[in-house]
Amino acid sequence: MKILVIGSGGREHALVWKLAQSPHATQVWCAPGNAGIAQERLAQKGNAVECVSIGAEDLPKLLAFAQEKKVDFTVVGPDNPLALGIVDLFQQNGLKIWGVNQKAAQFESSKVFSQKFMEKYGIPTAAAETFSDVVAAKKFAASLGKCVVKADGLALGKGVLICHNQTEAEKAVDEIMVSKAFGAAGANVVIQEFLEGIEVSLHALCDGTTAKIFPTSQDHKRALENDEGLNTGGMGAYSPTPFLNDAQLAGVAAKVLEPFMRGCVAEGIDYRGLLYPGVMLTKSGPKILEFNARFGDPETQVYLTRLENDLVELLDASASGTLAKQELKWKPEASVCVILASGGYPENYPKGKIITGLDVANKLPGVKIFHAGTALKDGQIVTSGGRVLGVTALGKDLKTAQAAAYAAVASIQFEGARFRRDIASKAL
Ligand code: AMP
Ligand code: GLY
Repeated sequence: MKILVIGSGGREHALVWKLAQSPHATQVWCAPGNAGIAQERLAQKGNAVECVSIGAEDLPKLLAFAQEKKVDFTVVGPDNPLALGIVDLFQQNGLKIWGVNQKAAQFESSKVFSQKFMEKYGIPTAAAETFSDVVAAKKFAASLGKCVVKADGLALGKGVLICHNQTEAEKAVDEIMVSKAFGAAGANVVIQEFLEGIEVSLHALCDGTTAKIFPTSQDHKRALENDEGLNTGGMGAYSPTPFLNDAQLAGVAAKVLEPFMRGCVAEGIDYRGLLYPGVMLTKSGPKILEFNARFGDPETQVYLTRLENDLVELLDASASGTLAKQELKWKPEASVCVILASGGYPENYPKGKIITGLDVANKLPGVKIFHAGTALKDGQIVTSGGRVLGVTALGKDLKTAQAAAYAAVASIQFEGARFRRDIASKAL
């Protein structure tokens, strides 16, 4: 099977690495990929994965490439091409593709849509209302006190503002709806009560009717230790988390996935792809903060190092509607991923810093380095983005996996590199 993966982050490196292990894979391309993806080889045939310089949002070029190379199966990593309708486009052209279609992508591309859906189908979420009117939005925010103001549309993960009081909430509403800090994404807002609790990530693979839940994981969204500093794309993740045991996870799955799939069928949404609910474990039970319609980054790096199944078979079953026949199998080991980021991230940061020590780190037991913002320049691997590497390690338990990941981090160097020293510590 000839496979094309779309995207260039750590998530896509993990997807490529795992897909390339499948005996079904005969050739793998990644558009646009990164320096680490370009070093992968197919486990069975030994041929190299090829990176193609087509951007993840350039739908016409991606389609032309898939047609020219007779790609059998395309796998989409990021949210943007999904929201742009890449799945619909490929399907209209008779090409097999994995990921949610444009209608299903609305769960991530519109927070108003998601909030209304959750309320309609009884999915536990924060008390919230949606607004297109500034005055009404401010009035509701004032009634909540501490609250969260969210721009409706995609805003590069920055459209969620946590407000401690009425003044901050009014400022947030103005920023999103009046100053249009996130452009058209801010025409409408969702305002939620602020929920206290422990935040975990859930993932479920769906095929239109069946949803298969993954084990638990936890991301670390803030830039600094102890969850301080600015929000980022994610500074590290681990799986499993002790904050939900198997019985509790099954309980959450029943409360969320069952009404979710039922609601999708009722609304005529054919949800085939990954559903990633962000969940707050509150004193009054688990509540959904948001839905993402794709794999998490860096959650994918820890999930795929634990996954036993052939990923080609699983994604094929998700796209084909035959997931009920698949049983997900996970290694009992724990996995920890520590993100090495450029100095300054998530604000401005330099690029082009030479990275050393990768070979040594990659050879440590249980360690796999997933690349994100890296590029090849004059034969050397250099930084080219905010999140640079996802240093991932499997271990017999979380403590062992954490120690292995940090040992690998210690052997990698680039100027200005920064990382959190407490990934998975909350669980220990
Ligand atoms: P979202 O993109 O909607 O998941 O929001 C980004 C981050 O903001 C989440 O990962 C949470 O850490 C935080 N957040 C979102 N909604 C709430 C809420 N209602 N209460 C507390 N924190 C929230
Ligand atoms: N781990 C955060 C995200 O993928 O959105």
